[in-house]
Amino acid sequence: MLGHAAELAPDLSAELAARAESVAPETLRGLVPRLHPTSTAALAERRDPAANRQALYGSSRAAPIVVLEDPRHLGNVGAVVRLAAGIGATGVLTTGTTDPWHPSAVRGGAGLHYATAVERLALDALPDGPLYVLDPEGAELRDTHLPDDALLAFGTERHGVSDQLRARADHLLALPMRPQVSSYNLATSVAMTLYHWTTGTRTPR
Ligand SMILES: C[S@@+](CC[C@H](N)C(=O)[O-])C[C@H]1O[C@@H](n2cnc3c(N)ncnc32)[C@H](O)[C@@H]1O
Repeated sequence: MLGHAAELAPDLSAELAARAESVAPETLRGLVPRLHPTSTAALAERRDPAANRQALYGSSRAAPIVVLEDPRHLGNVGAVVRLAAGIGATGVLTTGTTDPWHPSAVRGGAGLHYATAVERLALDALPDGPLYVLDPEGAELRDTHLPDDALLAFGTERHGVSDQLRARADHLLALPMRPQVSSYNLATSVAMTLYHWTTGTRTPR
């Protein structure tokens, strides 16, 4: 494991060498039912919920929050967390029953759940801020300036945006798409929208 760290994360290898612990194989199997071929596992604490709340509900936000309404596909959830953390969004909020911290979503997020705020909540508990809902029937996204405090909301994979979310939208926006095409994949839609936010609308930090 320390060999992998030296190769892949040299900036962390000294700290890992000081803190890493070996465990008996049966203990490891109990913790990690499907062991990675490298035999390496990491245990990490979730971000402090109070820090997440502060980032998500604080008075000034420097970057949008991504809202996924009732996402069903854990791979999409992970991909969106990875995108949001990578591009510097404030966080990802999900509604519905899917746990955004499900191990398959965390795997899909490539570890970046630990680098942004990821929480599940009810639709009526969304933070304040202008609500931009992405829907193929909306107005052209490219004509729209996305502010840094925006909530960028996306519908569920099969049925799209609910009537409840649509009714709350301050703006309904569409991604450019040929008329014969019905929609894009959820995570792809988030990527396009976040990319649009970075082009000219982002406040330098
Ligand atoms: C797979 S799509 C949902 C498909 C659903 N049958 C529909 O018609 O909306 C999941 C989400 O991605 C976003 N999305 C996909 N394509 C889009 C587009 N062309 N414009 C805006 N949002 C889009 C929307 O938020 C949508 O609810």
